[in-house]
Amino acid sequence: MIFDVLTLFPEMIENYCNFSIMKRASEANIISVNAINPRDFTLDKHKKVDDTPYGGGAGMVLMAQPYVDAYESIKKVENSVTVMLSPQGEPLSDDIVNEFANFDQMILLCGHYEGFDERIREIIKPREISLGDFVLTGGELPALCLIDAVSRKLEGTLGKIESADEDSFSNGLIEYPHYTKPRVYRGLSVPEVLLNGNHKDINEFRFQKSLERTKLKRPDLYAKWLKNQNQTTD
Ligand SMILES: C[S@@+](CC[C@H](N)C(=O)[O-])C[C@H]1O[C@@H](n2cnc3c(N)ncnc32)[C@H](O)[C@@H]1O
Repeated sequence: MIFDVLTLFPEMIENYCNFSIMKRASEANIISVNAINPRDFTLDKHKKVDDTPYGGGAGMVLMAQPYVDAYESIKKVENSVTVMLSPQGEPLSDDIVNEFANFDQMILLCGHYEGFDERIREIIKPREISLGDFVLTGGELPALCLIDAVSRKLEGTLGKIESADEDSFSNGLIEYPHYTKPRVYRGLSVPEVLLNGNHKDINEFRFQKSLERTKLKRPDLYAKWLKNQNQTTD
């Protein structure tokens, strides 16, 4: 998967992708992350990429020319999707992450300040994705969340040790609790069933905990899961 990220702060993207699992995935050629700075494409002699809004008001607006030119400079592969990070977009979910993991290239547009000149949307026609109903100062963190979440879904990114199969949302439920050594910590013991080596019992315990937690912490997901179960057994 190629991630081409349009950002005024390329170091933010490069630094994050240079650690831990993301770095390993790059070294294994599973992902390739390129940061492209629209400032390198501005025709303004002062290298300006933003200007005051027509109609007045606070903040600066990202100019269309540097973004559109930077976007058009990117070599597109056949199976490519362009995403604008925006609080006005579709909220990110595991389903959307799975969908993006089927592409070979993601072009990500990170905004800043007041956001994009509307003509960037009109010309590029990106899909718009939001991290949630709150406003961040820039699109780099949401872009990194997307890169990270999509990369985890690509074969080879996670070793067996970090498998995503049982992660929250993969089966419509949130994950069961985990324990590691020691067996007793501050008087709190690891549930006995996890120590007896009986995988049938362990799986059943984990499944029940998953159900219990989802019902308690995410009643919305639990209702959806129940509905799906009823549909498959009908
Ligand atoms: C301060 S925000 C602009 C907000 C814009 N004025 C609005 O009210 O919709 C600057 C940039 O941060 C990014 N951003 C902020 N919040 C976001 C969110 N919840 N999800 C995705 N991107 C976000 C977008 O790229 C946005 O262009």
